[in-house]
Amino acid sequence: MSRKLFVTTALPYANGNFHIGHIMEYIQADIWVRLQRMLGHEVNFVGADDTHGAPIMIAAEKAGKTPQQFVADIAAGRKPYLDGFHIAFDNWSSTDSPENHQLAKAIYLDLKAAGLISSKVIEQFFDPEKAMFLPDRFIKGECPKCGTKDQYGDNCESCGAVYAPTDLRNPYSTLSGAKPVLKSSEHFFFKLSDPRCVAFLEEWTQDGRLQPEVANKVKEWFTVRTNPDGSTSEGLGDWDISRDAPYFGIEIPDAPGKYFYVWLDAPVGYLASLKNLLDQRGQSYETYMADPQLEQYHFIGKDIVTFHTLFWPAMLKFSGRKTPDKVFVHGFLTVNNGEKMSKSRGTGLDPLKYLGLGMNPEWLRYYLAAKLSGRNEDIDFNADDFMARVNSDLVGKYVNIASRAAGFLAKRFGGKLADVSGDGDALLEHLRDASANLAELLAEREYGKALREIMLLADRVNEYVDQNKPWELAKQEGMDSHLHDVCTVCIEAFRLLTIYLKPVLPALAAQVEAFLRVGPLQWSDAAKALGAGHVIGEYKHLMQRVDVKQLEALFEPPARAESAPTAMESVAPGGEELAPTISIDDFVKIDLRIAQIVNCEAVEGSTKLLRLTLDVGEGRTRNVFSGIASAYQPADLIGKLTVMVANLAPRKMKFGVSEGMVLAASHGDEKAQPGIYVLNPWPGAQPGMRVR
Ligand code: MSP
Ligand code: ZN
Repeated sequence: MSRKLFVTTALPYANGNFHIGHIMEYIQADIWVRLQRMLGHEVNFVGADDTHGAPIMIAAEKAGKTPQQFVADIAAGRKPYLDGFHIAFDNWSSTDSPENHQLAKAIYLDLKAAGLISSKVIEQFFDPEKAMFLPDRFIKGECPKCGTKDQYGDNCESCGAVYAPTDLRNPYSTLSGAKPVLKSSEHFFFKLSDPRCVAFLEEWTQDGRLQPEVANKVKEWFTVRTNPDGSTSEGLGDWDISRDAPYFGIEIPDAPGKYFYVWLDAPVGYLASLKNLLDQRGQSYETYMADPQLEQYHFIGKDIVTFHTLFWPAMLKFSGRKTPDKVFVHGFLTVNNGEKMSKSRGTGLDPLKYLGLGMNPEWLRYYLAAKLSGRNEDIDFNADDFMARVNSDLVGKYVNIASRAAGFLAKRFGGKLADVSGDGDALLEHLRDASANLAELLAEREYGKALREIMLLADRVNEYVDQNKPWELAKQEGMDSHLHDVCTVCIEAFRLLTIYLKPVLPALAAQVEAFLRVGPLQWSDAAKALGAGHVIGEYKHLMQRVDVKQLEALFEPPARAESAPTAMESVAPGGEELAPTISIDDFVKIDLRIAQIVNCEAVEGSTKLLRLTLDVGEGRTRNVFSGIASAYQPADLIGKLTVMVANLAPRKMKFGVSEGMVLAASHGDEKAQPGIYVLNPWPGAQPGMRVR
């Protein structure tokens, strides 16, 4: 029975690039989604940028941009991260989209009609110079208790006192420095304290849909809540959902100058991104959502549980909409036992630097998966542990199985598989029997447990190889059929392990599918076998080991200013002296063009080269060889734009004629600083444009 699933990850604030914590969340969700698809279920997996709110408005102003331009620039940088780590969202939208404006207003009006919106005049700090109300984080002053200067409006970093911004002595606005004044204004509230809401939430949060540790935490909020001044009150409080202009957000219907607080329209962005996707496909959003079979899941971090287990389900329920089936809460990622990363900056492991160093994204997927469980608990990225796990499990145990058998099959049996007999059959049965349990562990997000089980299976296969010693069989007379049997068992076992690992390692699985000459592997393929007579393709090495040099480079802090050489010292930037000066006339002789990589493949017989098919807007394509195989998987380059020398004389090489050269950066001392970086123009460049 095929299920219909709607899956989201939290919508990241559009005030900065992704950090490794975001990537972890996306990898967790992506693995789950890929599993469901392999099981034959229909999934729509969407994300979007969370664009609204005062901090983004202020950051845009500082950057000299409109908020719209500011968030558009952030959005333009999302793709390399998502593609780079093989995160397969079906859609990426924005909370500033027309769909979100329309849906947020509709939900609000439905809540109002249900009698759950109230209004009240409240007093708040106002910056008279900026002419705006100040969110707490933009107010500082002296601690009312110990007198320490420059403390935030909610608590003192020196003595730990908790208070309200209005308690600060000599408060000032961090935006203008002006002394804030108290000003009153009408605010709208979502009446979470209404008995209908309380009754609904007490049931909804405790009926088993949440993780037990999350449900327990939520339960406390029904009895006590902490006020801004540190005092406590009983039960759920009403939620302030409006902000005054100027505010980057969605204007509230029939309330000029009032905007939805960012957290009101942010989760509505889940629905808006889905609607945007379905509209593009010509499908009806209303019909999709009205299907009683539809299941809705949100992946989020532990810091935003209140919004997703109280406000969001109540908003949906009382506006007459479907509520989430489950909210999957994960803990925080730290790096090398560092402190919890700053929400906006992140620290430690820069995802783009990781990719730029040519590190395999699936190493990270595997490592994080090995650490993740279904519980809301923090995990740590540890560099040594990372290298050990990837090298010993992935390369040493799993990939090794294929490489141990493929050579003999190709050389001795033309790549053709045999019948399997005896203990080989028993081993394969054992591997097949694990299928249901592994699917269940992965569906429960117990990725670490699942991978441990899979590696135990890989151990069994390697033991089988060690017992049967194909390398000895190959030397003995009359052992051909035994050798054929053993190698066939290895390949079939490798295929089964690949099925189980495919949600975690989609690109590697695609390489294996090509090697085995099979179509996209589904979970149900575990019950089948390739069968005698099936001919597999040529084995190419599937995965490199992690090199300690890469990790050193990854965590090397950016060069510090103090260590910059003085003007007297001679420097060799990038490990290489500058070439002699040329004139502009020399330069224009080189015709550089934007090229689109329409195809890219490995070159048989070469470990260094990739064969690129380039479109330079000439109405034909060019064939170019490039020595970048150590840094890029062919699939990573297909579709990308780069820069090529278009008037270089064609050169005949061992593998064919190369009609130009693509540009790439590398350090002068390749040993000390490995890594090759192909040039990639900013979005908007078109194939054929000249680079000058
Ligand atoms: N914009 C809100 C979410 C709105 S959802 C309708 C937000 N954005 S965020 O960019 O700060 O965080 C996005 C997600 O990343 C959240 O689920 C958050 O928990 C997660 N993470 C942020 N830092 C993280 C780690 N260090 N580790 C793991 N996840 C982390 O909150
Ligand atoms: Zn203090």
